[in-house]
Amino acid sequence: MDLIEAMKRRKSIRAYKPDPVPKEILEQILELASHAPSAMNTQPWELTVLTGDVLENVRRGNVELLNSGAPPSPEHVVVNWPKESIYRQRQVDLAKQLFQLMDIPREDKEKRAKWMERGFRYFDAPAVVIISVDRCLSETGPLLDIGAFIQTICLTALHFGLGTCIEDQGVAYPEVLRKYGRIPDSKRIILALAIGYPDWDFPANKVETEREPIKNLTTWFGFD
Ligand SMILES: Cc1cc2nc3c(=O)[nH]c(=O)nc-3n(C[C@H](O)[C@H](O)[C@H](O)COP(=O)(O)O)c2cc1C
Repeated sequence: MDLIEAMKRRKSIRAYKPDPVPKEILEQILELASHAPSAMNTQPWELTVLTGDVLENVRRGNVELLNSGAPPSPEHVVVNWPKESIYRQRQVDLAKQLFQLMDIPREDKEKRAKWMERGFRYFDAPAVVIISVDRCLSETGPLLDIGAFIQTICLTALHFGLGTCIEDQGVAYPEVLRKYGRIPDSKRIILALAIGYPDWDFPANKVETEREPIKNLTTWFGFD
């Protein structure tokens, strides 16, 4: 796929067909993504790829903790925003769009909880990539490298007809991933990536997120 087309077409996919993703394709995607840049070529990313029974166990473990009311305990700094900010407004706009598409009324707690569960089930994707980094690295430094790496995976996935969703939700309960994915304590778990063949009939996959025009965010000097 043309690079510009891929950048325009990439979007978060929140429902997948059950078809498995062949291991050879996942290997190719990860190998291509490893060409991503990193500070001083440190390449801090470490990957745990889950499918089948192991992934089912993780989904179940996450949902059990979620429904037990256990507070999420992510191991990296999760995005946060002041209440009255444009960042909060953008988050609200996204939630409104998704709830409208999914026919979830604001006051329907049960439907909202079911939607939340989907995130903790990696939207039932047939495969999930967990990205972690060694704890000897600083807490925030590697996040920039991980950002470059994960976006490269998302774009490369499109070439193979696959969709993705980057997920903080998917690493909210690291103990579940440590248990079933055997990720040692010496690794900080950073992000999850759901990957699979998109179910285009699923309403939430029709979401079209907006972008602030770049001219509002850019200051130019010396061009005129
Ligand atoms: C660091 C990061 C964490 C995210 N975590 C979640 C998540 O937990 N659940 C979810 O549904 N989407 C998650 N997303 C997807 C964003 O909501 C999405 O990228 C954003 O709304 C823009 O939409 P688009 O990806 O469709 O262009 C995350 C994205 C990033 C970059």
